Amino acid sequence: MATSVRIVGVGATPVGRLGRSAEELAEAALDRALADAGMGRGDLQGLIAVPSLSNPTFMQAHQLATRMGLLPRRKMIVRTIDTGGAGPITALGTARNMILSGWTDTVAVVASDAVLSMNRELFRARADDAVRGSGLPSPSIPHGYDRIAQWHMRRHGVTREQLAMVPAIFSHFSARHPDAMCREPFTVEAVLASPRVAPVTNVLECARRADGAAALVISSSSHFRRHFPKSLELCPAIVSTGEASGPLYPPAEIDEELFSCERAARIAFESAQLSVRDIDFFALYDCFPICFLRALEAVGCCPSGGAGEFVERAWRQLATRGTLAPSEFPFNLHGGLACFGAPWEVPAMYGVLEAVAQLTGRAAGRQVTPKPRRALVYGNGGIFSASAVAVLGDGVY
Ligand code: CAA
Repeated sequence: MATSVRIVGVGATPVGRLGRSAEELAEAALDRALADAGMGRGDLQGLIAVPSLSNPTFMQAHQLATRMGLLPRRKMIVRTIDTGGAGPITALGTARNMILSGWTDTVAVVASDAVLSMNRELFRARADDAVRGSGLPSPSIPHGYDRIAQWHMRRHGVTREQLAMVPAIFSHFSARHPDAMCREPFTVEAVLASPRVAPVTNVLECARRADGAAALVISSSSHFRRHFPKSLELCPAIVSTGEASGPLYPPAEIDEELFSCERAARIAFESAQLSVRDIDFFALYDCFPICFLRALEAVGCCPSGGAGEFVERAWRQLATRGTLAPSEFPFNLHGGLACFGAPWEVPAMYGVLEAVAQLTGRAAGRQVTPKPRRALVYGNGGIFSASAVAVLGDGVY
């Protein structure tokens, strides 16, 4: 069998207000992922980490590797990647490239943050500072997405209610996930009645501040088969990845050129020789509803400008029957950023973890049936500033 690159272990801490530092959480998640792979710290040859907002440090991955006794070690490559919320998927692609180019056999990717245990004013100041120079009012990131949502409404006729349907659907999904922060489904009316954050954005539509960490162990199939007993059938393949970049914050004139997700998805599809029709489960970044709507259009689930209607069809089905089967709307079945929880740059990892659960048939209570063969995961950084897409395949891929 040809060598492929596999996700051989996954691990996460709970998500919520944990009162532990980002470093402690990273260590806990990484040890869980190693245990899931049947490995110890000594089996790692690479570590990739993304920066935290709660405790920003110089060369974050080196700090973590030193803390965990992974450095100094001769055969160890350590790298910090910062493409914002796209970071975990950029890291997945980087790990795959490191393995395919023969640099290492086994690399861990870890993301962690503790932004809910942070003082709320400090969080706001640091988050605003992430897009300094944008001229956006505080909270700057929600206002930046809001500007784009307003543009989309004018250009494509997306309604205020359609935006609100996004978290309302995902609240039904998160209620089925044992680890999600939002435990009770809510309605579109509840979203529209929640406190206003920006002109067309309310609290229930915002990425939900959280503490948490998640980690992956990635290995070449040949190395893993030779040294570890876990069946490769339980280890999804990283089939392809793609990346593209946009501006740090929305320019004065917004147009389609701003969005980089379409380019990232095209690269991932072309290199896998697949199309959207080959994908059975999608984890699409949804820090605010407009991000999810744009992603639906960018990966080709609906025509450009058609995402509002696409979501409304699903919501009407859910509202009529009181439920939506996972196979009827195979998107973000963990609940996404507003309902599962969003520890700053970690959430795309939750998308990967949900894709792994779906591809291995272990998403109890929310499993897409028949079991998906392929999944697409999209991470978005800044305000549409970075896009990274990965196509994953099941263990027999
Ligand atoms: N669902 C339910 N409740 C929510 C919620 C959600 N999605 N979001 C916030 N809340 C609740 C909070 O739990 C809190 O409730 P309590 O008072 O009962 O504790 C209340 O709303 C107030 O929230 P905050 O404590 O956060 O304080 P705030 O009023 O100062 O701020 C906010 C509200 C402006 C919405 C703030 O939570 C916020 O800025 N959220 C967005 C965070 C963000 O921008 N994340 C990054 C997204 S972009 C991205 O992901 C890309 C990247 O590169 C990182």
